[in-house]
Amino acid sequence: PLVSMKEMLDEAKANGYAIGQYNLNNMEFIQGILQAAEEEKSPLICGVSEGAARYMGGFKPVVDMVTSFMEAYNVTVPVAIHLDHGSSFEKCVEAIRAGFTSVMIDGSHYPLEENIALTKRVVEVAHSVGVSVEAELGRIGGQEDDVVVEDAEAAYAIPSECKELVEQTGVDCFAPALGSVHGPYKGEPNLGFERMKEIDSFAGIPLVLHGGTGIPADDVQKAIGYGHAKINVNTESQISSAAAVRKTLDEKPELYDPRKYLGPARDAVKETVKAKMQEFGSSNRA
Ligand code: G3H
Ligand code: ZN
Repeated sequence: PLVSMKEMLDEAKANGYAIGQYNLNNMEFIQGILQAAEEEKSPLICGVSEGAARYMGGFKPVVDMVTSFMEAYNVTVPVAIHLDHGSSFEKCVEAIRAGFTSVMIDGSHYPLEENIALTKRVVEVAHSVGVSVEAELGRIGGQEDDVVVEDAEAAYAIPSECKELVEQTGVDCFAPALGSVHGPYKGEPNLGFERMKEIDSFAGIPLVLHGGTGIPADDVQKAIGYGHAKINVNTESQISSAAAVRKTLDEKPELYDPRKYLGPARDAVKETVKAKMQEFGSSNRA
């Protein structure tokens, strides 16, 4: 069934595991990710960036595809459709109207008070219709679609500001930027575990780790230990699907039927996501 993130994240946090947000890019991603969740018996968060929604024709086509495939595959695990890095109040409302069950409002580039005011407005609307909300503080480096943060602008979240945001907005979960990066890491990630520990001590809600691609397994487990119940993964699925397409076309240069090279891409996404579900501990939790 389609649900908000609230219950599944609270449950994950209480039991010391994390649920992945796996970003949708096209039909094959939707299929592979749903198949992975069902096979692993894992709760699932489908992440949809504004750019990815644009590519797939809008918020409504995404919701319709996800719900159709859930029916076709007899999906029994709980699934949330979540707006990733929502850029405005209006975009969040548009996604909710189209059937999204969860939204992120990314006001991280605004001054704190503005971020809080914007997030608060989104929470009021979203909660009135049972939709969960994620907020962000600090600046996550790297690039994901429209969200571009130069190295020099990337910033670790400040604990006192996190406290203010969480207390004043009533969000269901939040993402303090603590050194994780969208896209591949340049060198080893340097997560701010001291701050993470401090933030977790007062947050009272599940934390979210963006830039899940390329974080060493022991850092992932440490982050889960410090209250992270949601980990976002996009680039890793993109890399594995692209590798499958490249391999298939390299081996058979005469091939032209898209099913013959996008089928392997879909399987690659499925395998990547299944491995993440096992790593994050969400398998067999649905
Ligand atoms: O919001 C989505 C993510 O934070 C994905 O990050 O592409 O580095 O895995 P990633
Ligand atoms: Zn992100």
